[in-house]
Amino acid sequence: MSNTNEIKVWDPVIRIFHWVLVAAFMVAYLTEDDFLDLHVFAGYVLGAAIIIRLFWGFVGTKHARFSDFVTTPSAALKYLKEILVLKAKRYLGHNPAGGLMIITMLMSLTLTVITGVALYGAEEQAGPMANWFLSNADAWEDVLEETHEFLANFTLLLVGLHVLGVIAESLIHKENLVRAMIDGIKRST
Ligand code: HEM
Repeated sequence: MSNTNEIKVWDPVIRIFHWVLVAAFMVAYLTEDDFLDLHVFAGYVLGAAIIIRLFWGFVGTKHARFSDFVTTPSAALKYLKEILVLKAKRYLGHNPAGGLMIITMLMSLTLTVITGVALYGAEEQAGPMANWFLSNADAWEDVLEETHEFLANFTLLLVGLHVLGVIAESLIHKENLVRAMIDGIKRST
């Protein structure tokens, strides 16, 4: 790093995780029934990425750790109010509202993957949960399909809000957060 006003914030695990997540979520969302093999593959990639991220949240670098950014909903709300009056403090890691959104996105994605694997088992008698639905697949197919679809759409809604948040935060603090998620670097002050 040449500039002393620059600091490494996001380690490679976080950055690779993030862009794998973006690519896999887009592929999974756009393929759905039409390209089932690709859809299932993207879903497995998402599942593996989430497991690695959860592990990294306990043992990773400073700003990767959940202890660095998981906070209460009231702290997130307070931060959002500060954003509205343009008085929000700048954080090197995730801000309180961003942190809450990240946990919500990870939970929603996890449930989307789990219901996807279950649906794959019930509908196709394939995948790690196929044995769960040997005798009762018909009873589960519809409810799993509805739930999986709802969760995927809910996750997409969260992603939309997440991207809006990233844009707002970048404008307010005059920094490019997307670039930071690519090279890992932010200005230190
Ligand atoms: C092109 C669209 C996207 C852009 C531009 C974008 C940008 C970003 C940026 C800049 C951050 C860091 C926020 C900060 O500085 O606090 C971030 C974090 C994050 N984003 Fe996105 N994002 C996008 C799509 C997605 C999608 C599709 C997902 C999930 C399906 C996602 C999930 C996350 C998660 C989980 C984090 C936290 C990273 C971590 O700590 O592991 N993002 N995103």
